[in-house]
Amino acid sequence: MAGKCRVCGAPAYARLEYANLQLCRDDFVRFFERRVERTVERYGMFERGSRVAVAVSGGKDSVALLHSLWKLRGKLGVELVAITIDLGIAGHSDRYVPLARRVCERLGVPCRVVDLRGEYGFSVDELRGLRRPVCSLCGAVKRYVLNREARELGAHVLATGHNLDDFLAALLQAYIRGDLKALAKLRPYLPPEGKLVARAKPLVETPERDTKLYVEALGLEHVTWKCPYSSGASSFEYKRVLDLLEEEHPSIKFQMLRSFLERIQPLISVEEPSLLSCSKCGEPSSSPVCQFCRIKSMIAKLETNEARLTSSRRRGPGFERAASPLGSSQTSPR
Ligand code: AMP
Ligand code: FES
Ligand code: ZN
Repeated sequence: MAGKCRVCGAPAYARLEYANLQLCRDDFVRFFERRVERTVERYGMFERGSRVAVAVSGGKDSVALLHSLWKLRGKLGVELVAITIDLGIAGHSDRYVPLARRVCERLGVPCRVVDLRGEYGFSVDELRGLRRPVCSLCGAVKRYVLNREARELGAHVLATGHNLDDFLAALLQAYIRGDLKALAKLRPYLPPEGKLVARAKPLVETPERDTKLYVEALGLEHVTWKCPYSSGASSFEYKRVLDLLEEEHPSIKFQMLRSFLERIQPLISVEEPSLLSCSKCGEPSSSPVCQFCRIKSMIAKLETNEARLTSSRRRGPGFERAASPLGSSQTSPR
């Protein structure tokens, strides 16, 4: 890349249009980590002495997050543990789980690998039969499992790799839907509440492109392929729009973040229903049965229906009709 580092004059590695800044590899890495540190401090994400559970999917964002927090752990006075969920996605989980394990091992960060199928009874692949997009159901599953596991690990905070672009895509989505509840909850840091562990997004002020530059600058192993269910995710379209805006107006993403957090969000007032305990699993929920348990029952129902169909097929067409819930007049064999 043509140009010189503004700090030391060495050949530039990164050109950051939003700050009208060029930096060499080492100065970019320092710049990146300083910004993570400032974000953590600005939003009061971690107290000294706290245990931080980092959700590691092996993607560039969570790898960059784990690595930068690992470098800052002494300064911030925190202890790190990692959580990786094996979601049971054929052709995907068997690649990212070992990768995430390796990333943690190299840093000496203990990693709790959660086997969704073995420990919670189903895999994300099984969500395919349900009527909603796999990606959105999977998001609910991840939130549930990460909170539960973080709490069981004694973590004070759960840190995820959501970056600036993720945050703004969620903002646009909630805005378009007029989802005031989602807008009110969209924060870089959410304090703990009952059995809900505090949640932090230390990369909220870091553009997605920078996390890529960071993992590449340090040669950090990360997932370079996409989840097979990601094609239906609308966040890609929102991110494309954000990139177009940023190209024409460098730093507009930061401006959107600040305007929202400082001027718009404080005006949003929604009455939060008090947090309940799910009647099935006892985890925090806004309804009598939590979303996770509802997803589980939908899968169980699907399995029962499939089993019924298979067994009736095996027994022959007459039995299939007799077993139908529609009633004898319509179902009795001719
Ligand atoms: P995503 O929902 O895929 O955009 O991921 C957002 C963040 O959630 C990542 O940066 C991780 O911190 C966390 N995450 C996603 N998938 C997993 C997983 N399988 N295991 C642990 N954490 C995850
Ligand atoms: Fe959840 Fe892809 S990671 S659907
Ligand atoms: Zn439940």
